[in-house]
Amino acid sequence: MRITSPKNCVVFIMLFVLYLLFSIWIYITPLAVTTDQKKESIELGNGHLIYQKYNCQACHQLYGLGGYLGPDLTNVASQKGKSTQYIKAYIQAGSAKMPSFDMSSEELESIVRFLELVDKTGKAHPKNFLIKNDGRIYSK
Ligand code: HEC
Repeated sequence: MRITSPKNCVVFIMLFVLYLLFSIWIYITPLAVTTDQKKESIELGNGHLIYQKYNCQACHQLYGLGGYLGPDLTNVASQKGKSTQYIKAYIQAGSAKMPSFDMSSEELESIVRFLELVDKTGKAHPKNFLIKNDGRIYSK
């Protein structure tokens, strides 16, 4: 059978048409982003701005990164006994070591939502390391 036989041409044209249809389909199909995800990413962005505005990262870590005066806040929203009310109360009243913050109720809601959404991204278990005098680092 010759390569340029009419039968091969038909197969080639069919495959080419399928290729074109598939490419068009890929380009016109919208990305699978739900409206919920869009809303959440806006809430996350807004909350992060408030988190930065009040400099929470100076004392707290997210995913183990940040200041070390206060505890890591990555999973504070889902920790046992730590409700939304608990977080709000901490922010508004502070403690002996944490200052209180006089923020509007929208900012408060926004920052609590931010901590809830960060918590949904996974669990962070910041490791404790043992640093020897000679510079070697071990996991505790
Ligand atoms: C000057 C340092 C400092 C800043 C700034 C700060 N915190 Fe804290 N925060 C702390 C310390 C220290 C603690 C632990 C409190 C204690 O042991 O008395 C704490 C505790 C908390 C807790 C309770 C955590 C837990 O696991 O029980 C939450 C929630 C919290 N902070 C949220 C925030 C948020 C939100 C901000 C920003 C608006 C913020 N903090 C800013 C120092 C700070």
